[in-house]
Amino acid sequence: MTATGRPCRLVVCRGCCCGTAKKRPGVDHEGQLERLGGLRDGRGRRVPLRTSTCLGPCFQANVVVVQPSSEGRERGGRPVWLGEFSEDGLIDDLGDWIREGGPGAAPLPEALAARVTSKDAEKPKKAKKAKKTKKAEKAEKKPGKKAKKAVKKVEKAAKKAKRAAKEAGAAAADRSAPTKKTKKAKKAKKG
Ligand code: FES
Repeated sequence: MTATGRPCRLVVCRGCCCGTAKKRPGVDHEGQLERLGGLRDGRGRRVPLRTSTCLGPCFQANVVVVQPSSEGRERGGRPVWLGEFSEDGLIDDLGDWIREGGPGAAPLPEALAARVTSKDAEKPKKAKKAKKTKKAEKAEKKPGKKAKKAVKKVEKAAKKAKRAAKEAGAAAADRSAPTKKTKKAKKAKKG
């Protein structure tokens, strides 16, 4: 790191969602800000922090952006966006990383790598799936014309089969009638 180089810097989102108990209940948002503001780099320099209005990916509140130091930037480091930054342990990981040099100068710790996001991160499309389900439910409740036709067809076929069975039964009865007469006749003959 050059003597005149700038240390890493932090931008901490405190917009409509980040830092609010409504979006992230059970998190000490003020305490988090205080701890982040107290971080120092490997040379003991305070890591400048500024808060910002909404940075974009609200669904990943709290969002923190780590700007590279001058040396890190010279080595190709770019700002790293971290989302869902709410656990205390993440502040320790971030502190360690910054002491080692931060973006461009030290590898990103695994715990932070799992939180990497971006300005353009898109919220997973749950809403569309829900719409599809509603459509499916509607279709189930109200059978379409095709389904109604199919039901009528089956009912018609069942009626036809019933009728055919009745007719067959009647025909069988007719056939058995002369046989009885024949037996009676035979008896009469024997007598
Ligand atoms: S409030 Fe932080 S990203 Fe929107």
